Amino acid sequence: MADTFNTEKINTIITDATDEAIKKASDILRDGGLVAFPTETVYGLGADALNPEASKKIYEAKGRPSDNPLIVHIAYKEDVYKIAENVSNKTVMLMEAFWPGPLTIILNKKKNVPDSTTGGLGTVAIRMPSHPVAMRLIKESGVYIAAPSANTSGRPSPTLAEHVIEDMDGRIDMIIDGGAVGIGIESTIVDMTGDIPVILRPGYITKKMLEEIVGEVSIDKGLIESDSNIRPKAPGMKYTHYAPKGELTIVEADIHTEISGNGKIKRDLKDKKMLNESVVEKINALVAKKNSEGYVTAVIATKDNAASYICDNVLVVGEADKGFTISANLYAVLRKCDELKADYIFSEAFDDNELSGAIMNRLLKAAGHRVIKVES
Ligand code: TXA
Ligand code: MG
Repeated sequence: MADTFNTEKINTIITDATDEAIKKASDILRDGGLVAFPTETVYGLGADALNPEASKKIYEAKGRPSDNPLIVHIAYKEDVYKIAENVSNKTVMLMEAFWPGPLTIILNKKKNVPDSTTGGLGTVAIRMPSHPVAMRLIKESGVYIAAPSANTSGRPSPTLAEHVIEDMDGRIDMIIDGGAVGIGIESTIVDMTGDIPVILRPGYITKKMLEEIVGEVSIDKGLIESDSNIRPKAPGMKYTHYAPKGELTIVEADIHTEISGNGKIKRDLKDKKMLNESVVEKINALVAKKNSEGYVTAVIATKDNAASYICDNVLVVGEADKGFTISANLYAVLRKCDELKADYIFSEAFDDNELSGAIMNRLLKAAGHRVIKVES
């Protein structure tokens, strides 16, 4: 629990997404209260984005630093023009291609968007979600909904209503249970305030998908060089995130090999299979050592390798070459490690699929960039 939270416990309503519940939630939002709801990426913690007092409550409930701005969720593309300025042609092309969906666009803000929503920035993050419950709620309430992920600051984002209940019960007015979300990691964030679009947070909408629509797209330097002093442009990306309570280490195959005078090249497939076996072997050795010292261990594994581990807690996250199966379960698996009270957690790297950029961005943060490289 964040120590900034010291108001009285609220009686949180926990409900399915019935018409009655959506009406009640809409009343709560219009009155300046807090409602958690499902989106296609993760559960959001919503408040009226144009009501400064309401969005302030979000920071308190999450224990979130107040310089970390919120995403404003809208139900109609036209609403962009009511809260943002200088909407370029490229921006419109992205809205047409990916909205409703898991893409957040950063634009210059209009005066009506309060500082408490944008963390004092002159820009605003906007997204039109595709989840039917999120859409019903925005439309019924008639407000733009500021919503960060509905977790306590620093914990993995919630992908089930149960996760929201764990973190937010007694701190917010209502939780709408819409079952498991589809994608499981947060939206891609793209900054459209300059000439060239810049990805501030990787997600389900990849660089390649964006480039197919608008041409050149770059990636925020602060994201790539996460160990350096360059600050990421999305304030939230600088914080430790998603970390389980135990110590998480990623054990990764070194898929590059040195060729003299010719730099590094990727190894071929036969090598990859051997490397994969070396990763399993290494993880088994690390687990055996920690178990012999009396610690509780867990392994985060692909379905492909799960049967090869010797550990009491093998958590299967998805299939190695199907990124969406991994993104859908990653946060639930990280939370499971806490439930199991795992002291040491070892994870494979999931870098051989279409979502590897987005998945490894989260996993590396969860591991505090602790990585062991294995050669065959
Ligand atoms: O998928 C999602 O985007 C989910 C669902 C609920 O929509 N929301 C979400 O919100 O992930 P949150 O608050 O957990 O992450 C928002 C990120 C933070 O890293 C924040 O710093 C960044 O967006 N952000 C918000 N406004 C920004 C702005 N004006 N400029 C740069 N970064 C911004
Ligand atoms: Mg978040």
